[in-house]
Amino acid sequence: MSEQKSFYVTTPIYYVNDAPHIGHAYTTIAGDVLTRWHRQRGESVWYLTGTDEHGQKVLNTATANNADPLSWCDRLVNDAWKPLWQQLNIANDDFIRTTEARHESRVQKFLTELKDAGYIYAGKFEGPYCVGCEEFKLPADLIEGKCKIHSKPVEILSEDNWFFKLSAFREQLLEHYRKNPNACQPESARNEVVSFLEGEVRDLSISRSTLSWGIPVPWDTKQVIYVWFDALLNYATAVGLGESKDFSKKWPADIHLVGKDILRFHAVIWPAMLMAAKLPVPNQVFAHGWLLVAGEKMSKSKLTGIAPSEITNHFGVDAFRYYFLRAIPFGSDGSFSWEDMSARYTSELANDFGNLASRTIAMLEKYFDGKIPEVANEPKLSGALQSTVKAADLAISSLDFQGAILQILEFCKLVNGYVTEKEPWKLAKQSDAVNKKELSDVLYNTAEALRALAVLFNSVMPQTCQKLWRALGVEKTLGKLADQRISNVAKWGQIPAGTATSKIEILFPKIEAEE
Ligand code: ME8
Ligand code: MG
Repeated sequence: MSEQKSFYVTTPIYYVNDAPHIGHAYTTIAGDVLTRWHRQRGESVWYLTGTDEHGQKVLNTATANNADPLSWCDRLVNDAWKPLWQQLNIANDDFIRTTEARHESRVQKFLTELKDAGYIYAGKFEGPYCVGCEEFKLPADLIEGKCKIHSKPVEILSEDNWFFKLSAFREQLLEHYRKNPNACQPESARNEVVSFLEGEVRDLSISRSTLSWGIPVPWDTKQVIYVWFDALLNYATAVGLGESKDFSKKWPADIHLVGKDILRFHAVIWPAMLMAAKLPVPNQVFAHGWLLVAGEKMSKSKLTGIAPSEITNHFGVDAFRYYFLRAIPFGSDGSFSWEDMSARYTSELANDFGNLASRTIAMLEKYFDGKIPEVANEPKLSGALQSTVKAADLAISSLDFQGAILQILEFCKLVNGYVTEKEPWKLAKQSDAVNKKELSDVLYNTAEALRALAVLFNSVMPQTCQKLWRALGVEKTLGKLADQRISNVAKWGQIPAGTATSKIEILFPKIEAEE
């Protein structure tokens, strides 16, 4: 049997000019949630992230900090980037750095092949360059000589460089996006790419002669490969481009998650590079919106970045993972507000979800000695669960994280309503058989609903759901939480009667009010 192709998800590889902020965490968490959800569908998933270490921007920062660029990158990768992903429970399978030998050698080989195929030629580049974007700019990209994204003056370059015949792929790219609307999403991103391609597409300078911090052009070692040409290839070099048999088990990527700032690189240059090499193009580039500060993109260069720890120290890791995907439709811009985060933390996480878990476990302890009662059914809840799962799964397929979370929250509210209506604390005061049976049914069904909620919220809040899973005592009979399948979650009555529950710590503790 031939092994199934992995569902392959990537994040951008981030510049290590500084420590990560919540914008970087946003993309990486989204990729992680997607990865975990697909794993719970039973798919084999490969999740890649990493760092983009060459180019002028990183070199300038290293120099400004009196460090050589590689030690600077080592320090930031090991002290800031990797520890953050660990802290946020990012389940990536690989972490690529563009300074690794596996990457550099494959990039050189790829470029040589493109030259042999006639797609690389010598030319002169003259024009504006934004170091913040590491991008050759067109006059239309500038406002009063400044980059629109970084609001900083551009440099004017005049260099003899190597060029890639990007223009040769204009028609093929247009055809690709017309035929495959899903290849670039959301719609606004696809429209932007198509209208860019309908205009004039110029060839791209893919080398630089005025800096040496980069991968040497193999046949002209006075030049280094342009940082974006180098960086985009990470998605393929990391999974064995040109060398490993495994490459075809991962490639093409299923989803490149990116912010809309780097859409054109991913939806124009990158597929053209692949077309030139006769390799399959990615199935989808999804460009999400920006986290804004005072109406502008939060950025390392503008020093407007909020450190993830500012939020996790206060609300915990899982609430952080939850908040941005819950609050901002994926694809739109949004801003962070402490008030909004506090409000949702309290009402949605602490009250709707956390309290449901605490009071159910407490009542099981109190009324049933911590043993799950007889299996019961509740058609209204189980029916609602079926449609919840269907709708949430569909939402994830279109990267509508907010939609998926809202579905699950709705179910959570329904369960709360069920408990409120049944008033098990009143039933417990009666000693007749009818009321006893009713109490047993209510608590069984509520425990079942919690089982489902743990599975459904697991990709967004893995630590919290693990606590709940443990308290429900189901690991021995049902298996590990991460192994629970989305396709099976709606089957009612899975927790065996007699299962021993255990104490649960408060999932979302009260937050002390800030000054
Ligand atoms: O562009 N809001 O790296 P980078 C939302 N090295 N997302 C944000 C964000 C914000 N305010 N700020 C950053 C590069 N991001 C290149 C990528 S890929 C081959 C090379 C996220 O460090 C978002 O995903 O500038 C954005 O596209 C990415 O970080 C840019 O990170
Ligand atoms: Mg950037």
